Amino acid sequence: MRVGVLTGGGDCPGLNAVIRGIVRKGEGEYGHSVLGFRHGWRGVVDDEVVDLTIASTRGILPRGGTILGSSRTNPYGTDDGVARALDTLERERIDALIAIGGEDTLGVAAKLGTEGARVVGVPKTIDNDLSATDYTFGFDTAVQIATDAIDRLHTTAESHDRVMVVEVMGRHAGWIAIHSGMAGGADIILIPERPFDIDEVCGRIRHRHQRGANFSIVVVAEGAQPVEGTLSLSSGATDEFGHVRLGGVGNVVTDEIEKRTGFETRVTILGHVLRGGTPTAYDRVLATRFGVEAIEAVHDHDFQTMVALQGAQIVRVPIDDAIRELKTVDPALYDVASVFFG
Ligand code: F6P
Repeated sequence: MRVGVLTGGGDCPGLNAVIRGIVRKGEGEYGHSVLGFRHGWRGVVDDEVVDLTIASTRGILPRGGTILGSSRTNPYGTDDGVARALDTLERERIDALIAIGGEDTLGVAAKLGTEGARVVGVPKTIDNDLSATDYTFGFDTAVQIATDAIDRLHTTAESHDRVMVVEVMGRHAGWIAIHSGMAGGADIILIPERPFDIDEVCGRIRHRHQRGANFSIVVVAEGAQPVEGTLSLSSGATDEFGHVRLGGVGNVVTDEIEKRTGFETRVTILGHVLRGGTPTAYDRVLATRFGVEAIEAVHDHDFQTMVALQGAQIVRVPIDDAIRELKTVDPALYDVASVFFG
């Protein structure tokens, strides 16, 4: 078979481990030819391919980013995008396409599936917001990087008697914030799932300082929202999928805390640092398992599916299940985290 592979959307640590898994099993065991499309769906629309072989993918397991490049190109965003993508698949004689991506990339894969393309999805995102899989690879690495940063901020916060606000990515889900905040011992965690009241946040910080603490750590998810009518946030540009670019709520929260409490407050926006560098061991293993299962699905002609982690098992689910709804933070997890607030 001729198998196409692409990585779309925001990059994340572990993408190369998936590619390596696909190639090693696909070429090594089944004798398939594997072709990589450059820069996500853009490479399919523009017919930009590279050969992926065991030799060319050697040594990429610990490397961050993606050797194929990525983009947020949406073939459904232009008049001829879909026709060009389907033409490319025919011209390159692609028997199956493995799309490694998040909600947007997999959404395009699902739609192309209805137009005749034979696709298998692999869930990727640091945000961990895809339903049908317990975890996406990249998430563990992002949480570890954020936790390391919070640990470092603790010591400098303590030296200077400061409030430290740490903004983390995660889009409209608070998974990175809640996990890194819990692991790093944050005193307040603000997530999109629970609109925050800045008065209450300041009250908790004051209460903590009255009880003898001389510093506080506040973790803010980039998608955190104030209770309606309490604070105004500016909104950013949108991408080809209509998503607003987030980031900056940490600045607003920092200014308000300093103004209202009088405590010296600083902000650190971790941003793309969370997506960079080498994947954790957990993400390398999960990505490798996903890659191997994806090529198994192709080999079995089990198309319009996505590989997923459910419990300890790698399973296949209909690709539509993954994009149907956003997976948001479990209220029970938030309740555990909130035991340590203030
Ligand atoms: O979806 C992954 C993610 O890193 C989000 O957490 C973040 O909001 C977004 O991508 C940033 O996108 P970009 O790299 O296009 O700025």
